[in-house]
Amino acid sequence: MRLSRYFLPVLKENPAEAQIVSHRLMLRAGMIKQSAAGIYSWLPLGFKVLRKIENIVHEEQARAGHIPIQMPILQSADLWRESGRYDDYGEEMLRMKDRHGRDLLYTPTAEELVTDIFRAHVGSYRDLPLTLYQIQWKFRDEIRPRFGVMRGREFLMKDGYNFDLTKEDALHAYNRHLVSYLRTYERMGLQAIPMRADSGPIGGDNTHEFLVLAETGESEVFYDSAVTDIRLGSREIDYDSVDECRAVMEEFTALYARTDETHDKAKFAEVPEERRRVARGIEVGQIFYFGTKYSEPMGATVQGPDGKPVPVHMGSHGIGVSRLLGAIIEASHDERGIIWPEGVTPFHAGVVNLKVGDAEADAASEAICAAMAAAGLEPLYDDTDERAGAKFATQDLIGLPWRITVGPRGLKNGVVELTSRRTGESEELPPEEAVKKLARIYEGHLVRGI
Ligand SMILES: Nc1ncnc2c1ncn2[C@@H]1O[C@H](COP(=O)(O)OP(=O)(O)OP(=O)(O)O)[C@@H](O)[C@H]1O
Ligand SMILES: [Mg+2]
Repeated sequence: MRLSRYFLPVLKENPAEAQIVSHRLMLRAGMIKQSAAGIYSWLPLGFKVLRKIENIVHEEQARAGHIPIQMPILQSADLWRESGRYDDYGEEMLRMKDRHGRDLLYTPTAEELVTDIFRAHVGSYRDLPLTLYQIQWKFRDEIRPRFGVMRGREFLMKDGYNFDLTKEDALHAYNRHLVSYLRTYERMGLQAIPMRADSGPIGGDNTHEFLVLAETGESEVFYDSAVTDIRLGSREIDYDSVDECRAVMEEFTALYARTDETHDKAKFAEVPEERRRVARGIEVGQIFYFGTKYSEPMGATVQGPDGKPVPVHMGSHGIGVSRLLGAIIEASHDERGIIWPEGVTPFHAGVVNLKVGDAEADAASEAICAAMAAAGLEPLYDDTDERAGAKFATQDLIGLPWRITVGPRGLKNGVVELTSRRTGESEELPPEEAVKKLARIYEGHLVRGI
């Protein structure tokens, strides 16, 4: 992509309405534009990151054996009356009527709809286990939308639903989700700690939230600092193995880590004092087991091995896809701008031509872009006639993790400069070597983009 032909409406000034750094940087980097309170348009750079995050979620869901579907945004109120939630959900639910006077709502979550799909098509225990999920826009009429995409009213969520014959099977699905979520967040360069949480209007008693530690987080959290040393890393987990998934769940949840809703002072006091932490976190996901809460009232049963109908055991599992952009930026930025982790960066490197119009600099820059494309990497080629300082400032603001700087002086010696956004360190390399090095860096981090 040539910057001169791209649509990257960066802002020079700090927007007054943004209270936290991620919101400020998303606006300044031209990633989003507010259209109404808590409702945003996604501009090209923001949309690119959003799609990468979605694709990581899809890849990890596929790895765990979960099946993608797409349910509608507008739903009939009738199903929600069956579960009793039409009246319970309160003012966060956006309700409307169609021209025939029928009650509709904009989905805040989709337990009822997916249970209806299940009961229409699944009749036997032999069809279980089954986990269906979608990535779809949700609407919650939040009383105080704020912090940009972090607490929107319209937001993108991955919501998944497991259907199992027994409680044990459903708890395996719970653990499998926990493991797959850990992998998902780690691929985005994030540490999200599972913490015991409260189930809220979804119901049920087995639930963990995943929190990214950040001063600007809206949740107060209490934890044993040793939890921050645990990583899933590159372990291969067999998602069908009950024991392997349970072992990971136990490893990640053995130490004290809770949100304020479930905080237990006496238990916290048992944590060695030097490891007790009180901090803030951003909730980027939540998993629930809620048994037969929806299957029973909605008649979602299967015929068990003995021929008798039994209500299925269910859980639901959510990832805040659009909120993750804010969380990643909160966790990874400096005073000059965003620093994207390799797994989600909108472009793999910026190619900055310091002397546009100089035949040699132009040819070298274009050759680098072509070599990157051949290696499966996507460059953002700055071919504008801005000053070098302004070009670097834009690169730093939009946060591409790598920059290749091409100028006549270096080219005389056959080199370009490869700079890390994170460390600021540069090295001079022949152009082919710079591209080879990028290809090595991105090995294992290539996610399909748009
Ligand atoms: N208003 C919102 N804006 C952006 N993302 C959201 C919003 N509400 C929820 N999410 C994301 O969707 C995920 C799954 O939804 P869930 O029903 O667990 O939300 P929640 O617990 O009500 O969130 P919160 O406590 O932050 O209001 C959350 O973990 C969060 O990452
Ligand atoms: Mg939640």
